[in-house]
Amino acid sequence: MHIKDHTFGLFIPEKEIQEAVARLADRLNHDFRHLNPLFIGVLNGAFMFAADLLRNIHIPSELTFIKVKSYTGTQSTGTVNTLLGLDHPIQDRHLIIVEDIIDTGLTVQHLQEKLKQEKPASIHIATLLLKPEALLTPLSLTYVGFEIPNEFVVGYGLDYDGQGRNLRDIYKVSE
Ligand code: IMP
Repeated sequence: MHIKDHTFGLFIPEKEIQEAVARLADRLNHDFRHLNPLFIGVLNGAFMFAADLLRNIHIPSELTFIKVKSYTGTQSTGTVNTLLGLDHPIQDRHLIIVEDIIDTGLTVQHLQEKLKQEKPASIHIATLLLKPEALLTPLSLTYVGFEIPNEFVVGYGLDYDGQGRNLRDIYKVSE
């Protein structure tokens, strides 16, 4: 499979993705059964995972989406993250951040810090993919679909230069 200048090979087929999503949902259904959690999908990448995950959630719950805009500021502090579109009151709510992939972990860490300021009851992270070798910050991760090597992947919401989000399977860049 080709996208722009790169060749990608099949890595995680749709069936395995769906099985992992169902397993994560089962655990969430159990752990949050009396807590009316608020799922927060992180756009754009998590749109497909969030949709499939929520179809497997059978407990009272709500879903919203946010966009994290990362840019490197002119200050020496480096990366600045702003939140776009958090329209729900989150104080005293049990939050579940829904991410497609955690690479360095910096995006989700910044997101957690911002959310904490609003005093939620708890924050958990559900990520479909995790690249443990790429992590730059310690994170408490309870709900992980797959641990994968530190290589670039595309499909199932994840893009390469804007392309490939529509793919049902996950592909890995070839050598
Ligand atoms: P982090 O802050 O380094 O954890 O990066 C998280 C974001 O980087 C994800 O939400 C993705 O948008 C993007 N990303 C990281 N690795 C990949 C990949 O292998 N393929 C596509 N996007 C990726």
